[in-house]
Amino acid sequence: MFSRLIFLKAILALTYLSASDVIEKKPIGIMSAMPQEALSILEKIEDQEVVCVGGKQFTRGTFENTPVVFTLAGVGKVSAAITATLLHSKFGVEEIIFTGVAGGGSKTAIGDVVVGNSYLQHDLDLRPVFPQFHIFSLNTQLVHAQSEIVENMTQAAKRFFQKGISIPSLSIKDPSVHQGAIVSGDQFINNLDHHERIALSTKDLLPNGFHAIEMEGAAVAQVCVELNIPFVVVRSISDKADHHAGINFQDFLDEVAGQYSLGILTEYLQKK
Ligand code: ADE
Repeated sequence: MFSRLIFLKAILALTYLSASDVIEKKPIGIMSAMPQEALSILEKIEDQEVVCVGGKQFTRGTFENTPVVFTLAGVGKVSAAITATLLHSKFGVEEIIFTGVAGGGSKTAIGDVVVGNSYLQHDLDLRPVFPQFHIFSLNTQLVHAQSEIVENMTQAAKRFFQKGISIPSLSIKDPSVHQGAIVSGDQFINNLDHHERIALSTKDLLPNGFHAIEMEGAAVAQVCVELNIPFVVVRSISDKADHHAGINFQDFLDEVAGQYSLGILTEYLQKK
């Protein structure tokens, strides 16, 4: 009788373990700055459950059979850092993907995609106490994403492009995928002098130049390294961070950005 009881308890424990294993699969955090960059993804999330934290909406659900939490961060480094932190602390995400648009740096054209392998905050300056761009809490200037996730996202963007992209209204034909440095700051760059000053000030740290300039990626990178979360930022180039940037950015945002985010993320999650 006693041994039967132990046997029954063991079976119950095993059943309980396998059930909790399924329940505890960690979601992937997906974030963007502005609605046009990613609402196309939100529309595809199944079994949606909306959770509000402060004024921010997080949507839990599944996308390509993968558990995800999707949210819009808003614009700028502080908003991005708050959002990445909440994805970790409130939703326990396994990794964070940031998708959106950026101004183009060296060797990029409008319509290309940049997957960030290193990240720098171009407006962070503690001189003369520390070198320019020094991140005090990490004791470094450059933050790096793990090569495996960068490579997986690069392959996903390439598969998306293999389907054929042609957007004549924005002169986009045969775009390329790059891996490279992303620089971030709380400034929209719409002036070539400003763009070149940033390129000059970062050239010792980034001998190949930066590939994309935007307003959130390096903040997400800092949070993710500090909290030990795998991450990657994938950006489509909407403008060249020059005097046409405002117009090019708006056109790209309205016509193309959502289509790129959805196409690349779908390819990425299908191989998860
Ligand atoms: N995001 C898209 N284009 C940008 C630019 N020119 N400057 C900063 N962030 C951007």
